[in-house]
Amino acid sequence: MAGKIPTQFIDDLLNRIDVVDVINRRVPLKKAGRDFQARCPFHDEKTPSFTVSQQKQFYHCFGCGAHGSAIGFLMEYENLGFVEAVEELAHAAGLEVPREAGYDQGPDLRPLYDLMEDAARFYRHQLKNHPNAELAIDYLKSRGLSGEIAAAFGIGYAPPGWDNLLTTLGKDTSAVSKLLECGLTQEGESKGYDRFRDRIIFPIRDRRGRTIGFGGRTIGDEKPKYLNSPETALFHKGRELYGLYEARKANAKIARLLVVEGYMDVAALAQHGILNAVATLGTATTHDHLELIFRTCPEVVFCFDGDRAGRDAAWKALLTSLPLMRDGREVKFLFLPQGEDPDTQIRKEGADAFNARMEQAQPLSKFLFQQLTDQVQMESIDGRAKLAQLASPLLEKLPSGVFRRMMFQHLEEVVGIRDGHLDKGVQQKDQNRQRSVVSSGKQQRPTPIRMAIALLLDCPHLYTIADSVEKDWQKWDAPGISILKQLLEIIRSQPTLNKAALLERWRDTEHFNHLNKLANYGFDLPGMDQEAELRDALLKLNAQFHKNSRPQPGNLRPSELSDDLLNELKRRYPGTLSQDEQ
Ligand code: UTP
Ligand code: MN
Repeated sequence: MAGKIPTQFIDDLLNRIDVVDVINRRVPLKKAGRDFQARCPFHDEKTPSFTVSQQKQFYHCFGCGAHGSAIGFLMEYENLGFVEAVEELAHAAGLEVPREAGYDQGPDLRPLYDLMEDAARFYRHQLKNHPNAELAIDYLKSRGLSGEIAAAFGIGYAPPGWDNLLTTLGKDTSAVSKLLECGLTQEGESKGYDRFRDRIIFPIRDRRGRTIGFGGRTIGDEKPKYLNSPETALFHKGRELYGLYEARKANAKIARLLVVEGYMDVAALAQHGILNAVATLGTATTHDHLELIFRTCPEVVFCFDGDRAGRDAAWKALLTSLPLMRDGREVKFLFLPQGEDPDTQIRKEGADAFNARMEQAQPLSKFLFQQLTDQVQMESIDGRAKLAQLASPLLEKLPSGVFRRMMFQHLEEVVGIRDGHLDKGVQQKDQNRQRSVVSSGKQQRPTPIRMAIALLLDCPHLYTIADSVEKDWQKWDAPGISILKQLLEIIRSQPTLNKAALLERWRDTEHFNHLNKLANYGFDLPGMDQEAELRDALLKLNAQFHKNSRPQPGNLRPSELSDDLLNELKRRYPGTLSQDEQ
């Protein structure tokens, strides 16, 4: 892992970007007065209660209470970690994320990325210039690929021989060991030898276009047919999708992605103008793959061979998809005629016919129920009970929302149960919801300390009020006081920080969740006079402080006490006064 991201950078970033833009690109917003609104992406609703404030750089949902900054939104909506969210925002804003040196410093991966880029360039160059290049090019042509598509995918050629790449890129011992680290060479005598030999090379790029691995196909009949980079510091095949970068580059906005099995399928589809296909890299689709997909678009079509193996693979993909089926997302299944893959199919019938197939792909709901009803006898009660038993645990995996409700409803309909009790999650959640409304304290007024913190987060410009009110409360060491003092200090030194940036200061602390909750009050109590409320809260704090600091054994100031009283206290509460006070 690299060093910590400097606070200053987070401030600048949150200043530079606009939470309205960030959200609008993912959830279209409508202007509503000073704010922007949409139907909440985090819960299921008919009328919009999701509100984004440009001024505060903060979003809030009156329905489900979701709220946060642009960073928080990306973390929640795209399932990103904090660092990933910051990187994503920075990337969109054209900024490089700086790292503080000496802080949890991990290995610097840049030389490895550079080396992979050099290797990709080497292979591309060989495809044009090596004496055998003609063979390789003929092979690509025989598979229907044009020079443009080969270029768009950066396709290259690894010539025959044991050390072409090794001698070109392995100039010194450090380079030789990096080649090995990247999986470009394999360990052997002396410096090792090239992994890819006499193969067509498909560079595998990450979402941002950096080459992280390669796939190599033989031109002849050697085994294996495809050779892939091993897992390295850069390459984890369960997390990468071949063609995603190219698809993102070819489309301003991707409505859906088509998931296929092979490199050649992706390339052949692109050759016919279908520019939204990605391939898993010889593995089943993983949870990480799907998250990567849903960060790009809300719909995915899995494409499989119509044979038994294809159906089995599709069922696996369905099981992986279930927990990710948030409302608004769609998963479909496209089964090709037996023995065909997208490459052969599209070459046979062309793009229009293939697109028509895609339009007819089976929705997840249909595929799921069809597969299960095929296993039972629907005419008998016993068979329908069996269906309920098979389907319930699968539907339980769905996140709550309209889709889940409809799936359970459908199950109840087909098995003939009308009391709506198959979804155990619903009763549980209703109870939880009631409990949380009671305990969230929305109806109660927050304590003065919470009120003061909430108001300052919401309206940092009010910090000057703290100067106009007696400051005795600052001597108090009650929980929250130090946070309030810290907050005032930060605002005083940087009065232009917005709510989002202020909150980020506590991201890594134990107080973050608490403060994040307080960040809601500004929205929960609309129409109040914040200035008067803040003054009032600080006055109350002072009053509380004075009340609590009346002489009590716990917080005595011996200098303020008469000798008589001091002796009396020592007698009654031995050991409660510290050494220097006695
Ligand atoms: P397929 O065997 O379906 O090949 O492998 P394909 O994509 O149709 O290949 P062509 O059309 O003969 O060129 C699908 C994917 O499985 C992985 C590769 O990622 C390949 O694209 N695979 C396959 C391997 O990793 N190694 C192999 O030996 C075979
Ligand atoms: Mn094929």
